[in-house]
Amino acid sequence: AGKRDLVGKKVLISAGGTREYLDPVRFIGNPSTGKMGLALAQAALHRGASVTLVHSPASWDVPLGVQAISVVSADQMRASMVEYLPNADMIIMSAAVADVKPREYSQQKLPKKLLPQALPLEPVPDIVAELARLKQPHQQLIGFAAQTGDIVTPALEKLHSKNLDAIIANPIDEPDSGFGSDNNRAIFLDKQGQRIEISPCSKLQMAHHIFDVLAKK
Ligand code: C5P
Repeated sequence: AGKRDLVGKKVLISAGGTREYLDPVRFIGNPSTGKMGLALAQAALHRGASVTLVHSPASWDVPLGVQAISVVSADQMRASMVEYLPNADMIIMSAAVADVKPREYSQQKLPKKLLPQALPLEPVPDIVAELARLKQPHQQLIGFAAQTGDIVTPALEKLHSKNLDAIIANPIDEPDSGFGSDNNRAIFLDKQGQRIEISPCSKLQMAHHIFDVLAKK
């Protein structure tokens, strides 16, 4: 599509899975590759937006023309997202933030035997919920909900509890969808009660479907 409907818009996107290191060689993380966030950045750039991509360690190259901010942990991702928030018109939180982090970081590699006791955990900040508290009414804040089983009910619960403008629910227990896959299927849900099914397609096509909806709002 040759749509240029995001000219003059600033889009802030998070991508990838955060890593919560407990020592120099071990971390708590998840299998997110950041490909959905990358696709969103490519689509937004193509449509004329100026794009900032806050991403965790990834195997892909950031597209030329995208402002890339490289982070590792949820705390670092939070700091960058809060820093760039005031300037953004659309904020899309497609990163898979780790759920917990080790309470302490050890500069020394921990002996294996110590790990079961040496690993008290604490929650990481809920970044998107914080962005929702900080954002201005004209800013659109969109989350993702990677789910198994029923994808709609938990996504709606997150849409409301985190006070988002919209959420994209996608299954991670179906073949060729979700983590690491090049393709995806999803249901777009917003706080006005709109519900749009996005049938299986590439992550780049899905990114364009998402901007088709958002650009109209
Ligand atoms: O992990 P969860 O299913 O709650 O994620 C839903 C949305 O919240 C996603 O957009 C995710 O990026 C965001 N999130 C976040 N900070 C967390 C956990 C999730 O911003 N600590």
